[in-house]
This record gives sequence, structure tokens and C-alpha cells, in this order.
Amino acid sequence: MASTQSTAAFPSAFPDLNALDRYRVAIATELARIANVAPNLVYAGLDRASTLDFGDLVFAVPRLRVKGIKPQDLAQKLACELKLEGVQPAVVDDIYLRFFFSPSTFMSSLLPQILTQGARYGLNPNVGLRDPSDPSAGRKRMIVEFSSPNIAKKFHAGHLRSTIIGGFLANLFQGSGYDVVRMNYLGDWGRQYGLLACGWQKYGSEEEFARDPIDHLFQVYVKINGDFAPEEEAYKAAKARGEDTAHLENQGLLGEAKRYFARMEEGDQDALALWRRFRDISIQRYRETYARLNIHFDEYSGESQVGQETMGKAEEILKEKGVAETDKGAEIIDFGKHGAKKLGVAIVRNRNGTSNYLLRDVGAAMQRMERYGFDEMLYVVMAEQEQHLKCLFKVMELMGGEHAEKGKGMRHVSFGKVAGMSTRKGTVKFLDDIISDVGGFMHDVMRRNEKKYREVASPEDTAEMLGISAIMVQDMSGKRANNYEYSLERMTAFEGDTGPYLQYAHARLCSIFRKIPDITHQDLLGVDAGTLLGESPHAVRLARIMALYPDMVNHALKTLEPATILTYLFRLTHELSSSYDHLKVVNPEEGREMSIARAALYEAARQTLRNGMVLLGLTPVDRM
Ligand code: ARG
Repeated sequence: MASTQSTAAFPSAFPDLNALDRYRVAIATELARIANVAPNLVYAGLDRASTLDFGDLVFAVPRLRVKGIKPQDLAQKLACELKLEGVQPAVVDDIYLRFFFSPSTFMSSLLPQILTQGARYGLNPNVGLRDPSDPSAGRKRMIVEFSSPNIAKKFHAGHLRSTIIGGFLANLFQGSGYDVVRMNYLGDWGRQYGLLACGWQKYGSEEEFARDPIDHLFQVYVKINGDFAPEEEAYKAAKARGEDTAHLENQGLLGEAKRYFARMEEGDQDALALWRRFRDISIQRYRETYARLNIHFDEYSGESQVGQETMGKAEEILKEKGVAETDKGAEIIDFGKHGAKKLGVAIVRNRNGTSNYLLRDVGAAMQRMERYGFDEMLYVVMAEQEQHLKCLFKVMELMGGEHAEKGKGMRHVSFGKVAGMSTRKGTVKFLDDIISDVGGFMHDVMRRNEKKYREVASPEDTAEMLGISAIMVQDMSGKRANNYEYSLERMTAFEGDTGPYLQYAHARLCSIFRKIPDITHQDLLGVDAGTLLGESPHAVRLARIMALYPDMVNHALKTLEPATILTYLFRLTHELSSSYDHLKVVNPEEGREMSIARAALYEAARQTLRNGMVLLGLTPVDRM
């Protein structure tokens, strides 16, 4: 096979990886010659049609910018002159030229392409190259920061979404040739951990901690927060009245928590030992749970891991540049003075000298620059923190120099809220609770069909996979920015665009191959699919949809939306379900060759579906 690199004239075309690109190159070359314009101009304008009825590729003639002739007339003229191998005569539709691939040549090249590329189909590893024309220049490095729960606190829906979306984005960029670092930035520092330590002194039990550390820590946290609530209210009320709250800050539990946290920041060994125990055991548990989702992190960083010197250095730069100023003993930034009035005023250093969330994020970014020299960094964080991240990016910009430079590669990947996330027993404390709850529900559903249930090798595992798919697909169905309502009923249904439906579509394709054990992969590659299937409208539609997949992956690199892939997969599976009756693999009247050709079609569909599911972070099941 020819090289998988782009062609010199069309740097963004990868004809060996993307069938559409192959046609784009052919059409662009010819159309440019006839219209006497630059081939790249045509290439860039060859879009996918919105539906198959409108063609495979569409070109809007005004893009040629040819003067002195109406675009409608130009379209007619071009269509008459164009003669392309493998493409049917262009259809003129007002100012558009619509191109339909000739089914037989298209089929005979697409199917073997998908079958040989296998798990790589759809991914273009050249995208992440620093210099596409020179692979020795290395790959771009991207940090994807995601999940980032807070130790001892609830794993809430925001963390769930971040985990799902971030896992997908890390797969997407890695598959596209980026050097990806998966990073979990734990909430494991700050006054709230001072408060947890106070709670531990009051309510902690070694016995209960040994039995279920995460659960016990959570209980302790809930209890101490209960104690703290009245104080917190009084404090907030005083603040709202505009009173000076300095004296309140040093009293009661708040004072205790602050003092404890100050000890942690000063490096007090006893204070740190306790905190480290909590952190280590939490990470151990996180690791196990993420593994259930097929997710691993290259680094468990966290707010605690930001060095005092780094934060000191950040402050120094900010002061030197006149960005940070002292206000009543605290260090603040008044963004209004730096062209960003909307960001208001932010504290970077508390009155008692401890760091805060923003300063820690600035320090963390600096450490990541140092350690990874990243080109790009994605913060997969809920929309509520948009303001915070804007402040962070602005601070990087105001720091100037290399910080401002790196800051340009930093992006907030935001997402909306989930309402009503709870288990059947009520509370979600941890990611495990959700996974087990939905998995258990799927298990009950599976058991209702006894015969099928007995055929599944390890029903518990399958139920867990289905449950996870249900949760993830529900989350990825809409655009990130949308809010949605968590619904166990809806997400676990086998009808509609759900995780179980997608898994069912995959398992059904797998079952086809169990019925034809005598047909080998070699047979599939050797079949003359173009001649055998080119006349079948169902087969052609299916193949045309499969050919779109590499474009969809490209598109997702821009939208950063899992829904871009998921919506496509549902389109593919809907087409599949309406094909089965028309395209039977085992049909003695039509002969063995036809069986093989259809099997090749279904195998290519299975591969495409599987690749998309894996990219999304789902684990496709073979039976259910
Ligand atoms: N731990 C934070 C929370 O749960 C999310 C961290 C977001 N990332 C960051 N770099 N600030 O709210």
C-alpha cells in the first residue's frame, strides 16, 4: 500500500487513511484544472453532504470566486466538462455541485481499506506531528487534566462528566499522534483539609478507617461540616453585611481549620503525616475505580503538589509586573486594572500567608511547563469554574514571556450540569456507587431473559460493561454545554439511542461471525465486493456511512465533543438495523461468494463501530 502521508499538493489530505480525501484530491485536481484556480481552494471547499441523498461530497461554486458569470451557470458549465473516474457525473443543484461516488469502485477499495487498517481505521497519527512534513521533529505534547475529585468529599456529577469527557479527549488526541499526559489534579489541599483533620481528631476511628477508609473519611467530613455549619453561616452573614470578618476568622472551628492548614503549608511533619495517609489511601481506591472504566492516569497530581517556591516565584513575577498588589494584608489582583474588568478582583495570597485555589493553579501550570514543556493543555472542568479558569489564563498572560506563550495553549473544556444523580439507595459518595448501582440494575434486566442469560460467559462482568456504557452514553449524547437529567430508566433502555442499544448493535454483528466459522479474514479480503455489492442500495448506503468515520474523528478534534462521534455511531447502527433483512449473510440461494461479500461489509461495519466505541472509552461486548 502507498504511504500514509499527505500528498505534497494537498497537505491536509490523507488518501490512504481517508477514502473521502482520495475523492477530494481527484475532484479538486480536475475541477481546479477546468476552472483554472488553485487546487487547494477547491479541496478546502469539498464538504461532506448533510445527508446521503445530497451526495457524498458537495461543492459550493461561489467559492471559486470566478467573476463575470453567474454561479448557477458556472455550475452547469463545470458539470458538463468534468469527467472523473470513480465518480458519477456531477449533479447541479442551484449553486452546488453534488458528487456521488460510483458504488462498485468505491466498495472495492473501501472495504479492504477498513479491513486491513483494523483498529487503526479512522485515526490519523500525523495530526499530532510537530511538523507534518518532517516526522523526526517529534510530536506535540498535550496534557489532559480531568476528573480531579476532592479527597473526602463527594464524587459528584461534575467529576463524573469530567472523567468521561476527559477520557475520550485523551484517547482522541493520543490516537491522533499527540504525546498525551493524563493528569488527575486532586482537590487535596486547602482549608477544607484543615477542617477534615479537626474532624478526625474529634470523630476519627482507626477501626472504622481500616474497614472502609473512604466511607469513614466521608462520614468524618460530613460530621465536622455539620458542626461547622452555624459558624459558617454567621461568617457569611457578617461578610454580606460588609463587616470586617478578620476577628471571626480566627475563632472557633474556622480558626482551628485555618491554623491546621497553615501548619500543613509550613511543612509540619505530624500534620502532613495524617494528611498523606488520607491521600495515599484515596488514590489507591481511585486507581481501582478508574480501572473499571478503562481509565488510567499518568500522574496523580493535586493542589498539594504545588511547591511553595513555585508559588513564591509566581507572586514575585506578578508583583514585579505591578499585577499583584497588597490589600489589607492579602495579595490581590484587580483585573479591572489590566483590561479584564469582568474578572473582578481575585485573592492570590490569604491574609495569614496561606495559598489559595488560584495561586495553586498558577503554580501547577508553571510546574507542568517545567516538567512536561507541553504544547497544549486541556482543563476538563465544569462550567461553574469558567470564571476561575479565565482568571488563571489571564494571570498567565499578565505574567508575560514564556508564561504568556504557554498560556495560549491552555483551554477550558467546559460542560453543563447533571440533575438528580443518585443511586437507588440514595446517596452517591464515590464513583463506585454509581457504577455498581447501574451495573446491578442491568444485571436484573439481563436475568429477565433466562435463555440468553445462560449463554453469557460472565454475566456480572457483562452487566457491569452494559451499566458503564449506559452511564457514559447518556452523558455523551448531547453537547457538552447542555445540562441533562440523570435517569436510570432512560439510560438502561434497549430502545432509543442508549448505551445498551449500542452494545447490542455490536454484539449482533459479532453473532453473525459466530454463524460462519468457515469464512476467514483472508476470504473477506479476497472477495470482489464492488461487483457483488455495488448494486445493492442497502450495502452502498452502509459503506458510504462507514467512509465518513475518519472525517468524523477529524471533526471531533475541532469540536472536542464526544457527541460528534456518538451521533455518528447511532447513524451507523440505525442503518445497520434496517439492512439486516435485505442483506442476509447466510442465504444458500445466493451462493458462497455473496455470503463472503456481505460478511466483509458487516465486518467493516463492526470494525468501524468498535473503533468508535473504543475511542469514546466504551468496552464493546461480544455477547449480551
Ligand atoms: N477539584 C476541583 C473541584 O472538584 C476541580 C479541579 C479543576 N482543575 C483545576 N486545575 N482547577 O471543584
